[in-house]
Amino acid sequence: MSTFYDEVQEIRARYPEARSAILPALRLAQERHDGWLPREAFEEVADALDLTPAYCRSVASFYDMFHLEPVGRHLVEVCTNVSCALVGAQQVVEALEQELGIEPGETTADGRITLRLVECAGGCGWGTVVAVDHRYREPVRAEDVPGIVQELRNGG
Ligand code: FES
Repeated sequence: MSTFYDEVQEIRARYPEARSAILPALRLAQERHDGWLPREAFEEVADALDLTPAYCRSVASFYDMFHLEPVGRHLVEVCTNVSCALVGAQQVVEALEQELGIEPGETTADGRITLRLVECAGGCGWGTVVAVDHRYREPVRAEDVPGIVQELRNGG
């Protein structure tokens, strides 16, 4: 089985500069660390691309798709940008907070579900957009939330 370092070298070879491979390398590291990027993940990426861990972390912190804290088995992300806000994103967030008993940025005590708010998800005409494990549900209304949560709790 190839090591993380070897896999990153394969990715690196597709780009003119090592630095350009940082996003796919971070994505790979995140997959290998249960969906988030702990300190050692940045050290591994930095080592494989001849960069510094601090630089790798600064790049990751810029993008919603990278997680700097542990996340639950399921990830529920709600777009709260303008178009979604106008059609009830806040009510969807409140319904999720109530159903899950957590606030955005938190994970349920059983480690099952993480709730996050995200910027425009690119589906502005179909708001409110909710991404469940990176798959879009659209439009989602507050009344849809109990069903979505139940589905996730049932292992969906
Ligand atoms: S504003 Fe929500 S998808 Fe664009």
